[in-house]
Amino acid sequence: MPEGSGKIQVRCTVNNKAVTFEAYPMARLLDALREELRLTGTKEGCGEGECGACTVEMDGALVNSCLVPAAQVEATKILTIEGVASGERLHAVQQAFITNGGAQCGICTPGMILAAVNLLRRFPEPTEVQIREGLSGNLCRCTGYTKIFESVVAACGESERDA
Ligand code: FES
Ligand code: FES
Repeated sequence: MPEGSGKIQVRCTVNNKAVTFEAYPMARLLDALREELRLTGTKEGCGEGECGACTVEMDGALVNSCLVPAAQVEATKILTIEGVASGERLHAVQQAFITNGGAQCGICTPGMILAAVNLLRRFPEPTEVQIREGLSGNLCRCTGYTKIFESVVAACGESERDA
């Protein structure tokens, strides 16, 4: 990187792998993931922190990666949709979305699945209200939410093996 370009080196862990990327301090984590690290599973919807399509986990908490500047990512642990499965074995939430038709166009799906994985880690047997609250930051234009809700219900209990 030429000196004076204004870019910084960011070291962090993404999906359990140590990575380094270069970015402007205010560049979006979303773009770093998709363009620098080629992890294109994380989607952009609104780009304004409203839709949750770009959701990833940062140090175990859900964040909208379109709102996270690269400078804040240093030394953190990021989990994206690419890191949710264990090798060839899908996470119970991913399998439940397939079995129950929880995805249509798929734009919201990576963020929905990360929100559900995060929820079930905190509440392995969530109430209906907890599921609705857990997914409340993620918008879907296609499914009407019923099949997404049913997918998360189906994954309850199953997800403990993926914790
Ligand atoms: S793209 Fe980030 S919240 Fe919509
Ligand atoms: S499946 Fe299309 S936005 Fe949710």
